[in-house]
Amino acid sequence: EHTYPQKAHIKTLKLPKNIESLCREIGSLAERMGYKAYLVGGVVRDMLMNKEVWDLDVVVEGNAIELAGELARIHGVDLHPFPEFGTAHLKIDSIKLEFATTRRETYPHPGAYPLVEFASLREDLLRRDFTINAMAVSLMSEDFGTLIDYFGGLRDLKDKLIRVLHPLSFVEDPVRILRALRFAGRLGFRLSKSTEKLLIKAVELGLLKEAPQGRIFSEIRLALREENLPEIIKLYKKYRVLESLFEGFSWDDQLERRLKGLRSVIEWHRIEFPQERLDYGWLYLMLLLLRVDAAGYMNFLNAPSWVRQGYTFLKKDLDRLLGDLKKAQKPSEVYRLLKGKHLSVLLLLMSFPEVQDRVKLYLEKLRHVKVDPREFSGLSGPDLGKAMEEKKSQLMDSLFSLNS
Ligand code: CTP
Repeated sequence: EHTYPQKAHIKTLKLPKNIESLCREIGSLAERMGYKAYLVGGVVRDMLMNKEVWDLDVVVEGNAIELAGELARIHGVDLHPFPEFGTAHLKIDSIKLEFATTRRETYPHPGAYPLVEFASLREDLLRRDFTINAMAVSLMSEDFGTLIDYFGGLRDLKDKLIRVLHPLSFVEDPVRILRALRFAGRLGFRLSKSTEKLLIKAVELGLLKEAPQGRIFSEIRLALREENLPEIIKLYKKYRVLESLFEGFSWDDQLERRLKGLRSVIEWHRIEFPQERLDYGWLYLMLLLLRVDAAGYMNFLNAPSWVRQGYTFLKKDLDRLLGDLKKAQKPSEVYRLLKGKHLSVLLLLMSFPEVQDRVKLYLEKLRHVKVDPREFSGLSGPDLGKAMEEKKSQLMDSLFSLNS
């Protein structure tokens, strides 16, 4: 099969400075070995959108592990080969490279594990998820930088559309339902009309429930890391995917208001306390899952322990704590209620409007109030602790007040 179709949109890219010489080197190595090498997937999409790229996916018409091994040897870096998949990765300077042999995947029946065979570049691109992720760039010296776009990826990138390559895409790989929404949310794209129809159908068919849950939940973890997570959650809502993933989940106005509240709390915290980094994405998940029984999902999600602990605490004590906070009369009472709580719990509480000011007072002021132990000469052990706490309370109550 020829490499370029007659109708592929051809355009030559100027590769970013940080990767150009490495890419040229890969190209000439491939040539010397009698292979062909291309950049593919997300890196091509990101280059076309003028984003910085640090992760390079390279496909090789030929033996990818051998090519990667040669490159690793020249640069004196470690090679991590995966012979059963025909892939290998390595890192040169700060650039991560993943090499794979071009392959075809055929599905004996929908949803089955694919049969993997060696194939042409075109077939390798055809097995991918969306047109914008199915473009390649040649690294060969004769046409270095040439964009290879069989499926209209460049046009869809300009039109801001997520489009699958064939109607069975979501059936073959239901994880793509969530990927479609993640990319749409991240990039501010829409689903093409036909892709939208296919996605809705796939959700209605319950494919998300049937897919391997490990893969589904690692995709959710990826979504939690996205800057535009709130947009992605809106799309999850629009296409009813959470109902399908989490038994008993449903949307209502209150949950939406709380999500909005959480979003502004996170914006606030990011700016006010830049040194207190937190993986904010998990907070959205905790809030979404408060009304279902998610302890089991936390395992699937491989949630960090602060998420599990925070979630378990809130499941059990949220209502009581909200009530107590509302009733508190003095700053020192707020302090006692919130002292020692994990930041995630505090930020989630703060997204509830009725206690927002109180939690904010705690985060901004109360938790920073200090007294000097040297003022309590003669006391030690528990007595000292108690006296200091009392002093702190007095100080707080004289310095600050609660507007009810
Ligand atoms: N891919 C796919 N179907 C999937 C997962 C991945 O077709 N379920 C293909 C896509 O072509 C994708 C490539 O494999 O571009 C690499 O996958 P991944 O690294 O997850 O995607 P990126 O596009 O690189 O995503 P990101 O920008 O989030 O790194």
